Parts: sequence; structure tokens; C-alpha cells
Amino acid sequence: MTTGLEHSAFLKAARGEAVPHTPVWFMRQAGRSLPEYLKVREGVGMLESCMNAELITEITLQPVRRYGVDAAIFFSDIVLPLKAVGVDLDIKPGVGPVVADPVCTLADVEAIPDLTPEHLPFITEAVRTLVGELAGINGGTPLIGFAGAPFTVASYLVEGGPSKEYAKTKAMMYGAPEVWDALMTKIAGISAAFLRVQVEAGASAIQLFDSWAGAVNRDDYVRFVQPWSARVLSSIGELGVPKIHFGVNSGELLDLMGEAGADIVGVDWRVRLADGIERIGPERGVQGNLDPTLVFAPTEVMTARAAEVIEAGRTARSHIFNLGHGVIPSTNPDQLARLTDFVHAYPLTDDR
Ligand code: CP3
Repeated sequence: MTTGLEHSAFLKAARGEAVPHTPVWFMRQAGRSLPEYLKVREGVGMLESCMNAELITEITLQPVRRYGVDAAIFFSDIVLPLKAVGVDLDIKPGVGPVVADPVCTLADVEAIPDLTPEHLPFITEAVRTLVGELAGINGGTPLIGFAGAPFTVASYLVEGGPSKEYAKTKAMMYGAPEVWDALMTKIAGISAAFLRVQVEAGASAIQLFDSWAGAVNRDDYVRFVQPWSARVLSSIGELGVPKIHFGVNSGELLDLMGEAGADIVGVDWRVRLADGIERIGPERGVQGNLDPTLVFAPTEVMTARAAEVIEAGRTARSHIFNLGHGVIPSTNPDQLARLTDFVHAYPLTDDR
């Protein structure tokens, strides 16, 4: 490779190799907390911006330029592939994805087309441009591709929008398991195809977001969720890029999410990182998990808590520093800049 990525601290940690410093990036590092994002998004809808290669490229690069984080995450959304195959949906500001005709029956599932690379020319173009640009930033910065895991994407399709209880989603799981299995199989294919396009165009790692998987218990996770997350992760296994798997409120599921086929398990901020590491075990690395609200605390309080996270991370196979969920839109970017610098400067002792 001539990209310089062989020196990437993020990729070394993702593969379980020794690192020059603790790598750091932030979930939702691109987006509303950045004035430069609000400026380029003026008058442009969220989905529209996710289908414009030039905007995708610019927005993905913004936090990398500003913070010098160890990885870029592709700017898109977990529901973008559904939009690309023709599902009638929108992303409403302050609300999230809203689906016009929620999925209820087997016929509804069968009406959703499979995703092919022809649906996503703007993704391929944006990834290729980004990989070229990122090669020249800080000696080579890797790009993380991502997709939504089947459960989380299914929850939007079945509920028609964001949900607190996931009552319709669970009603389908428990009451119409054949419809549920068909829906999960459909989405697994779409998410796998979305990831494949990104990796084949040059993304160096992937993250599978199962943000709302914490809504189910362990037994239901094993029966109704994990097999399809595993299918997505194994389908891109041959491409050889590290795989990160993350869910909110997933403390009870961490070992199972690892067993779905992740190299790195993202730990939500509610879990003590040391406990998360114990649950995940020595075979996989961890990512996380500073409470995203700590950026609103005085800087020395935030950095003291970040130090605790880094210290706890030493007992893991490898540790990628992140927040324990996405950047909150009202976050002051200057605090994230200070946090990035703090993590980079934090000494790595060799008593691991
Ligand atoms: O910087 C990055 O992390 C990359 C971009 C990214 C977005 N969405 C952009 C976005 C990523 C990785 C996602 C994934 C995503 N989308 C998830 C999983 C991550 C998580 O937060 O748990 C989920 C659950 C979604 C669905 C979704 N899309 C939600 C809940 C929202 C927020 C609703 C709101 O307005 O509060 C969106 C919209 C969205 N996706 C925005 C961004 C930057 C905000 C849209 C805007 O700027 O108007």
C-alpha cells in the first residue's frame, strides 16, 4: 500500500496491534455541532446531502481537518440504502428517519428491492475521492464505512419512525416470526451490500450500528437479532477490514454483540469500561466510552474522566477512544479539540 495507512493508530488498534498513541474519533463527529457543517447544509435536506458526492466528501472531512482525529467516518445515514432502493422515507430535522408506509406484512417486505451497487454511484464516487484526500491528512487517515444493523433499521421500517418502546417491532418479532425473519433477511442483504460498496471503493474499516438493540433481552437478542447482524458481518469478512459493532444501552449484550462477529465492540457510556472489557473478553478490542455530556463539564473534569477511560482501556486487547454515543449537537467543538489533544498526548506505558 502507498496510502500511508500502515502507520494508522486506529487501524493498528482495530487489528489488535500495538499503537503509538491511543486512537480517537467521535461518533457523529460530523454534523450539527460544527458551524462549517451548518453552513454547507443551509437549504439542503439531509437525504439530499447524503446523495451528493461533493457534500458527502466535504462534510466527512470537516471534523478530520478540525480535530485531527485518527479516523474519518463516512457521512451518510443508516436509512440511506433504503431510500436508494426506493422506500418512501425522509429524515426530519430534530426527529430522525420517518417512513411513509410502515412495513407490516410479508408482501410489504417482498416489495422492498434488494440493493445493488448501481443504486449507489454517489457513494462509490464519494468514498474514492475521500480516500484520496484522507491519504494526505496527518500522514494518512483511514475512512470508516458504516451501515445500520438489521434490528435498528427494522425498527424504523416497522414503527414508521423513532420509538421509545418498539412495541410494533416486538409485536412482529413475537407474533409474526416468519414476517420478522423475512424482513431481517431483506435488511441484512441491503446493509451488507451498502458496506461492500464502501469497502470496495476504499473504506479501511466498518462500523455496524445496532443503536437500538438494547431494547431486547439476551434471549430475544440471540433468537431475533444476532443471526442477522452476524450475517452482515460475515458477508464482508472476506474483504479483510476490521469490524466494529456498537449499540446504545447494550451493556447486557456486549459479549453477544462480540460473538456476532466483531473485532471491536463499542461500549455505551452507561457501562464502566472495565466491566465492558470483562464481558467482551480477551479476544476482541473495545471502543468508547466517555459520557458525551462530559464535554459540557469544565475541561479538567472532562479530561480527568477521559484519563479514567484510557486507563481502563489498557486491560483490553486494544482500545479505541470514543464517546459512549454520538456527539450532542450543542457540543462546543473546542472541547472536542481539547479532548482529542488530551487523548493523543496521554502517555502509553508499556505495562500492558
Ligand atoms: O459523523 C457521523 O457519525 C457520520 C454520519 C452519521 C449520521 N447518521 C448522520 C446524521 C451516522 C454514522 C449516522 C448513523 C445513524 N443514523 C444511526 C446510528 C448512530 C447512532 O446515533 O446511534 C441512527 C440511529 C440513525 C438514524 C438517525 N438519523 C437519527 C436518530 C438522526 C437524528 C435525528 C435528529 O435530528 O436528532 C438522524 C439524522 C442525522 N443523521 C443527522 C446527521 C448529521 C442530523 C441531520 C441534520 O443535520 O439535520
